[in-house]
Amino acid sequence: MKLLFTNIKELLQIREPSVLKLSGKEMSILPTIKNAWLLIEDDKIADYGSMNDLPEISPDNTIDLTGKIVLPTWCDSHTHIVYAGNREQEFSQRISGLSYEEIANRGGGILNSAKTLQEISEEEIYKQSAKRLEEIMQLGTGAVEIKSGYGLIKEAELKMLRVVKKLKENYNIPIKATFLGAHALPLEYKDKKEEFIDHVINEILPAVAEENLAEYIDIFCEQGYFTVEDTNKLLKAAAKYNLRPKIHVNQFNAIGGVQVGVANNALSVDHLEELRIEDVESLKNSETMPVALPGCSLFLSIPYTPARMIIDAGLPLALATDFNPGSAPSGNMNLVVSLACIKMKMTPEEAINAATINGAYAMDQSKLVGSITKGKLANLIITKPIPSYSYLPYSFGSNFIEAVYLNGKKI
Ligand code: NIG
Ligand code: FE
Repeated sequence: MKLLFTNIKELLQIREPSVLKLSGKEMSILPTIKNAWLLIEDDKIADYGSMNDLPEISPDNTIDLTGKIVLPTWCDSHTHIVYAGNREQEFSQRISGLSYEEIANRGGGILNSAKTLQEISEEEIYKQSAKRLEEIMQLGTGAVEIKSGYGLIKEAELKMLRVVKKLKENYNIPIKATFLGAHALPLEYKDKKEEFIDHVINEILPAVAEENLAEYIDIFCEQGYFTVEDTNKLLKAAAKYNLRPKIHVNQFNAIGGVQVGVANNALSVDHLEELRIEDVESLKNSETMPVALPGCSLFLSIPYTPARMIIDAGLPLALATDFNPGSAPSGNMNLVVSLACIKMKMTPEEAINAATINGAYAMDQSKLVGSITKGKLANLIITKPIPSYSYLPYSFGSNFIEAVYLNGKKI
């Protein structure tokens, strides 16, 4: 099956050969072809070029994209889309003046989501989560990471990860699973944190590995949650099962999470709203991708990750949604790209690179998605007619996506 797009106003993010990630100044360059054609063969990008030298091709179908821009789908490397119920009561409490921390201390927050999730069936969680996955696919996401962490007790964590496994089986996009058992201290373990960490390591982790339910390990390394020592212990244990770290660090306090992540060869360190010079220094000469989650900053009214400090130091940066019921109930990568430009002073080129190829790197998927490269999956966003690609982040909150193609097929 050959599908040819012609008269593409601009084809974005062309990488031949592909790169794994982009760092520092490289992020300011977004290679494009104006007035382009693109050929899809089955599920892959087969070829592309300028309309000025369109070769003899006999496609099964040709679509004229006059006025429209084509780019690779978004790569959302940090989500919690498998959850049950919602937390809009806490939203109202925060508007009335309570902080995220105060709500958590009253039994709300992660424990609130855990209670709801523990009580409902795997089928019901699957139904609610599949709906969210379909929603983000329509919004242009073509590869996604999903975490556990609202189960906390063994059976519920396994239930969450089995839901992720079922999503992988039923939806044909790259989905990566992360085991986030140490997301909060369950009530059963109040004042027994050491015991809980040992429980995660000795009871839940082996079961997750046994059923092959996760590729990555995560922990909420934060004051009031888990320490650097807890983090180090868990990451070392998970390494024995080949689970690479992708961890929550520096969301509210900088306590050394970046350093423990880098020391354990983390694939990514995520959040980074509170970032110190020494954290930036630790990331240099590492293989670890810093990931910013501006939707969370918007929703919780906390600082935005200092993108300029990171990129100007020569480091890479990825953008993700953090889609979850407590701190970022939105999986809209288009809005994330806008926020990165408006609030984090990233240029449209940097933001698009961060949301595509660098997001792919943060899920170990750069060889498959994240750029227009021959042989990569034909996971593509086709915009409505727009004046330029900067118009996408500029027109924040509007949806200028006309169609999404996954594996060469329109969804
Ligand atoms: O990434 N920070 C930890 N975990 C989530 C929020 C969890 C929740 O509030 O449900 C986050 O922000
Ligand atoms: Fe998160």
